[in-house]
Amino acid sequence: MIAPLVRLPTTMNILDPDRLDLSALAKSFPPDFLWGVATSAAQIEGAAFEDGKGASIWDHFCRQPGRINDASNIDVACDHYHRYREDVALMKSLGLDCYRFSLAWPRVQPLGQGAWNEAGFAFYDRLIDELLRAGLQPHATLYHWDLPRALDEACNGWLSRDVVARFADYGAEVARRFGDRLASIATHNEPWCTATLGYETAQFAPGHKSRAESLQVAHHLMLSHGDAIKAMRAETKARLGIVLNHTPAFPATPTEADRRAARIDDGLNVRWYMDPIFRGAYPQDAIDHVGADAPRIEPGDLERIGQPLDFLGINFYTRSLFGADGKTVKGPGQRGFTDMGWEIVPEVFAQHLVRLAREYNPPPMFITENGMANADTVVDGRVPDKERIAYFSAHLQALATAMSLGADVRGYFYWSLLDNFEWNSGYAKRFGLVHVDYETLARLPKDSAHWYREFIARHRATR
Ligand code: FCB
Repeated sequence: MIAPLVRLPTTMNILDPDRLDLSALAKSFPPDFLWGVATSAAQIEGAAFEDGKGASIWDHFCRQPGRINDASNIDVACDHYHRYREDVALMKSLGLDCYRFSLAWPRVQPLGQGAWNEAGFAFYDRLIDELLRAGLQPHATLYHWDLPRALDEACNGWLSRDVVARFADYGAEVARRFGDRLASIATHNEPWCTATLGYETAQFAPGHKSRAESLQVAHHLMLSHGDAIKAMRAETKARLGIVLNHTPAFPATPTEADRRAARIDDGLNVRWYMDPIFRGAYPQDAIDHVGADAPRIEPGDLERIGQPLDFLGINFYTRSLFGADGKTVKGPGQRGFTDMGWEIVPEVFAQHLVRLAREYNPPPMFITENGMANADTVVDGRVPDKERIAYFSAHLQALATAMSLGADVRGYFYWSLLDNFEWNSGYAKRFGLVHVDYETLARLPKDSAHWYREFIARHRATR
């Protein structure tokens, strides 16, 4: 059985942004609600081999022919490593409260074990200071997919249980050095993507194709999450948590077969990660479904994973639809899709947050990513991205509705500040509020950035 959908009140009426009362929407969020944007190291920093940084599995993946759609790499990306002051100034000009970024593990520990790279830590030290000077809270993520390549070579990366202890050491060191200045630290970004796209479908680094490997990796990621939380607790009072990506699964038709396919996907995407953290066990239906591909779990592992958390980060973009053959199918086509081909379903966002609140009673949640890729172009010195404003405002209305129905959400980070390297899609997919010209690296705030600035100003007026 699929969990019953939360029925939304008829007052939830997603409005056309042109008819939206911005002040009324702003007022529907509590005065202390936080507004931010999110990025990740590999997607924006560049300086891939500067100041002692070690190679990551993505530096290597980009060099393998056929892996990245536009054959690009992340040697320069948005050159944020050198332009971080300009980027922080841009965030300040939008009036943001907070910024979510990730540290590149190989920048601060080139081999993933042993010596720390002081020049790498110095970059994050400068970035954090710059953020604090600009009045922005820094929220860090330890792992947004850029594993030190040396660990992949030395011991097969996340396939090895040894990496769990390496990750906890790295977390403790970050907490020791920056814990007094960071508002929060998340262990992993989207472990489902690391495991499934990296080890089962081969779309992401390191590009393996085995479900058994993927599930073993997922278990090691969860274990490393729990151990890192424990290690960091000893070093910092910053809020500690994890960021999960949820793509709620729906049956394509109301048949038992499609329902079952959606239920299995819910087990592998949502409950596989939520249950060990909040219920102390992997979901039995998913374990039964994967049979011999189930991971090896040692006694005591689930206790280590289930550390108490201060927050839960949720990344939401779309839903998935499952036909009877277990494959994702496209929606019926009456609604919008983004430039990634992802269906725009703000009501599912609201339903899902209420479901999480009711089924798991999680710690306070943050929306750590939400946004859309759009085929943006510069027209007379402007980027008229009205599709993004529509997506953005619809998801904020949905979020306000979910909160009114009991979801405890404390902040929202738009993905992303800048157009950037969208993994295997290369630079072709633009998610930014700020347009990046990849020839000159010039930044240009899009109409959606101006919309967000105005919205935040209205919200601030309620404080
Ligand atoms: C998420 C990732 C983020 C970005 C967005 C579009 O899955 O966390 O890095 O690629 O999707």
